[in-house]
Amino acid sequence: MAEVKASLFCGVVAALLCSTALAFVEDLDETFKDTRVNDIWLVDFYAPWCGYCKKLEPIWFDVGAELKSSGSPVRVGKMDATAYSGMASEFGVRGYPTIKLLKGDLAFSYKGPRTKDDIVEFANRVAGPAVRALPSKQMFEHMMKRHDVLFVYVGADSPLKEKYNDVASELIVYTYFFSASEEALPESVSLSELPTVVVFKDGGHFTYDEYEDGSLSSWVNKERFQGYLQIDGFTLYELGETGKLVAIAVIHEKDPTEQSDRTTPARNRVTVLISSLISRDFQFGHMDGNDYINSLIMGEVAVPSVIILNTSNEQYFLPSEPIETMEQLVQFISGVLNGSAQAYGGDGFIQRIKRVAFDAKSTIMSVFRSSPLLGCFLFGLPLGVISLMCYGICTAESDDGSEDMDALKREGLTDEEEEEEEEERQRAAELEGPAEEEEDVGEKAPEEKKTD
Ligand SMILES: *[C@@H]1O[C@H](CO)[C@@H](O)[C@H](O)[C@H]1NC(C)=O
Ligand SMILES: *[C@@H]1O[C@H](CO)[C@@H](O)[C@H](O)[C@H]1NC(C)=O
Repeated sequence: MAEVKASLFCGVVAALLCSTALAFVEDLDETFKDTRVNDIWLVDFYAPWCGYCKKLEPIWFDVGAELKSSGSPVRVGKMDATAYSGMASEFGVRGYPTIKLLKGDLAFSYKGPRTKDDIVEFANRVAGPAVRALPSKQMFEHMMKRHDVLFVYVGADSPLKEKYNDVASELIVYTYFFSASEEALPESVSLSELPTVVVFKDGGHFTYDEYEDGSLSSWVNKERFQGYLQIDGFTLYELGETGKLVAIAVIHEKDPTEQSDRTTPARNRVTVLISSLISRDFQFGHMDGNDYINSLIMGEVAVPSVIILNTSNEQYFLPSEPIETMEQLVQFISGVLNGSAQAYGGDGFIQRIKRVAFDAKSTIMSVFRSSPLLGCFLFGLPLGVISLMCYGICTAESDDGSEDMDALKREGLTDEEEEEEEEERQRAAELEGPAEEEEDVGEKAPEEKKTD
């Protein structure tokens, strides 16, 4: 009897614990399709075997807790996409984990860094109205302080406003959109024509010009970054979508002498540059250390130095001599713009071969560096076995022997190719995908299952 009571008690406690956890993150099943319609949902589509999903789990719980405690209308859930694969593919889930905000008929994918603050910010931004009204000067100033880049529609109802609303409801995944009357803007801002779309950033503002800037959505995509950024692999990937050239100062951020001597003045000077017309074609920033750039260009850049990347064709430009003055920087930039600067890299066939070889080499190097013994074992043992076999085959004089060797060679070759292909795929994922990795549904699944 006592035992029954005890287990009953345990059951109740477990149920209680479960229900508090559920209150933050709800486990979703096939009924979700019908029950979701009246609410806004933030859903983590995961696979039980996926390592990145496990890493996300505690963060996801915090996201749920934070949204709940802040009184957000967004409900947080998670769905085992392997158990409900039909529904998952209906929502366009192709890798794990996939984070989506579902709002009526719309599904917004989250592609940013998987941290609590970033995800909560995303949920709040996307769950709210696509265009937020700024009714007063105070409100406008408040928002200017909070956001580095501010898109504002100014004017009465118009076809442009409709277009703006459409663009906003799509690009709200990246940035905020506001609307204001002219009276809500600071006095220093004078607009020659209304209605118009203005972006406030880098201490200034400029307006959208339908004839020069192309479609509103491509303009917003181009201008949604500050002119000067701290750049890492993830931002570089995002910047690639703007179609601008990316000029990066490669520096050691932690080095205090460099910080005071070089970057600060360089930064200030660059900021001045940005306000000039060049910012239409360029995105500026700095990157800490040269590791990422080195692996990107498969070479070695000095620190400090400047590199300009053309993300649309993977070409890059390096100054012929170290840049120390503003004139040199301007000259370097104009050389790139007028086509006289030497372009390296590219996305041609030879570059791709080079990339595969480079990745294979750096994988082998990293294995040796992290554990030389394992490296010897992994690469040395097969080599030893193969040479022994070759030796045996060569010394045994028979026609069959040479055929065997050919077969062996062929086999060896195909294996290598497969390996390289896999690495290329990984590389491509690293380059093309966001810094936070996503696991492919297909190929990797069985592998992951085994390790767990
Ligand atoms: C960057 O690449 C694009 C696409 O190939 C090309 O049209 C453009 O001219 C390139 N820009 C520079 C400065 O080389
Ligand atoms: C391109 O710009 C560089 C740097 O300003 C200049 O030295 C060079 O003469 C220019 N070339 C052409 C073809 O305009």
